[in-house]
Amino acid sequence: MILGATGLLGKALMSEWNRDEVVGLGSRDVDIRDADTVYEVVAKARPGWIVLVAAYTNVDECESHPDLAFAVNRDGAVNVAKAAKQTGAKLVFLSSDYVFDGKKSSPYQAGDARNPQSVYGRSKAEAEIRLLEVLPECCIARTSWMFGTGGKCFPDTILKLAATRPGLDVVNDQRGCPTYSVDLARAIIELCRKSASGIVHITNSGHCSWFEFAREIVKGAGLATEVRPVSGQQMARPAPRPAYSVLSPKSLQQYGIAMPAWQDALQRYLQERNN
Ligand SMILES: NC(=O)c1ccc[n+]([C@@H]2O[C@H](COP(=O)([O-])OP(=O)(O)OC[C@H]3O[C@@H](n4cnc5c(N)ncnc54)[C@H](OP(=O)(O)O)[C@@H]3O)[C@@H](O)[C@H]2O)c1
Repeated sequence: MILGATGLLGKALMSEWNRDEVVGLGSRDVDIRDADTVYEVVAKARPGWIVLVAAYTNVDECESHPDLAFAVNRDGAVNVAKAAKQTGAKLVFLSSDYVFDGKKSSPYQAGDARNPQSVYGRSKAEAEIRLLEVLPECCIARTSWMFGTGGKCFPDTILKLAATRPGLDVVNDQRGCPTYSVDLARAIIELCRKSASGIVHITNSGHCSWFEFAREIVKGAGLATEVRPVSGQQMARPAPRPAYSVLSPKSLQQYGIAMPAWQDALQRYLQERNN
């Protein structure tokens, strides 16, 4: 069962997951804030695995709507974990690099201390802690900088802007790992097949700044738009972003799973976008 099947990652999971019977639900089918309905839906379908990708994902809006952020991202996740426990389902919960403060200068390991700086990050960090209490054997999959054709994402925004402007200013002092929804979906499916548990980091391999990412996007699309580096301070937004949120692949490698480089993933995204 995929909860959040109508979102960016949910759509990739739905199209990549063949071989098994899959039930995909969006917020119109079940609001994860409603514990009773969550239990009813799960008890009826009796899934072997629940992949919980449903979330309130607008990081900036979370700053002005903290109650909603915690209700969906933390309490909603706990409702799902309890339903999983009561029905014997296994659970993968999608979490984020925003659980970290971004002050390290070497890749974050799965066991590194959480220190979220934003409401969204806190809602995810508190969800992780509560989930490990409710369902200690659950799998927490942290990812970052996701892109794909199923919804709004950074490459899509850059391509739309680049089509209408001669130049773009993009932040160069925040580093992370871009992650293609298709590659992430494949890794999650494999983790389910391997009965994964504990915290696992899943991103495409390699890392870059937003500026470097944008430059590669514009180049890959064959556009002549100039991409200029600026500091995060010049482009201040409501939610603070971690300056460095590179996630180490070690926890994923323990399951024998290797992720393609983000540049390779970007090329495949651009092809998919053109089809
Ligand atoms: N995007 C990223 O860069 C990124 C980075 C790190 C982690 N993540 C995590 O990865 C997961 C997937 O992200 P995404 O970008 O695919 O998200 P998304 O495109 O924003 O989709 C969110 C999904 O959650 C559902 N949803 C929202 N509120 C709900 C509620 N109260 N009850 C039930 N369903 C609800 C939405 O349903 P409807 O569309 O039907 O309303 C939609 O299917 C999330 O957990 C997110 O926090 C994302």
